[in-house]
Amino acid sequence: MIIIKSNHEIQTMRESGRVTAGILRDLKDFVKPGVSTKDIDDFVEETIRGNGMTPTFKGYNGYPASACVSINEEVVHGIPRSDRLLAEGDIVSVDVGSTWKGYVSDAARTYPVGEISLAARKLIEVTEACFFEGIKYCREGFRLSDISHAIQTKAESEGFSVVRDFVGHGVGREMHEDPQIPNFGRPGKGPRIMKGMTFAIEPMINQGTWKVMVLEDNWTAVTVDRSLAAHYENTIVVTDGEPELLTLL
Ligand code: MF3
Ligand code: CO
Repeated sequence: MIIIKSNHEIQTMRESGRVTAGILRDLKDFVKPGVSTKDIDDFVEETIRGNGMTPTFKGYNGYPASACVSINEEVVHGIPRSDRLLAEGDIVSVDVGSTWKGYVSDAARTYPVGEISLAARKLIEVTEACFFEGIKYCREGFRLSDISHAIQTKAESEGFSVVRDFVGHGVGREMHEDPQIPNFGRPGKGPRIMKGMTFAIEPMINQGTWKVMVLEDNWTAVTVDRSLAAHYENTIVVTDGEPELLTLL
């Protein structure tokens, strides 16, 4: 069941989203060669708690940290570690969730570490562009898979592939609510999109194969061919016009 949010609930999610958005904005300068993935997690957790909010991910299905920090071929759910340092030329995806008065905002970005290759830069840019293609269909009159199809079409037209094993989702009182929102599929299927729905739209795009596997830590997902992966996610609200982006300032 897809939960339609009231204006009051959306206002609370807006407040949550503002903190998540500010963290992702500030990480742009925080991410540098020599910074550990644990340093990133500490920054995320301190900022969330400093705003009186709770890190959504901590303890979720036993997840041990506040952020997911995934380097290069790591697609999502990288566990922060003090001995895992960013190096010049890496790309790093950071996924953050903040809970405020019982409501969640969930968003992710992929950052360059110092100077990166042209190919890596293109992957990051296309992943972001996939999100913006998808949300063109995030309004009344369309069906859910119109979003999915637009994301897949953009990614594949640029020569990249779309991860199948992880999907976008409804978000609100729970981090993961109905519906599931794959980043691939035929258009015109699934539920009609309605005002007051709140979604986390999150293309995960790979340079090589779409296939991923989970490492022995039972969390970190990597591309099976070890090609680079990028992630771009925002929490959005369906309105009677353009969708409102809650996690982008
Ligand atoms: N933010 C991720 C998502 O979009 C979930 C993080 S998994 C967690 O679904 F376990 F770390 F919480
Ligand atoms: Co998400």
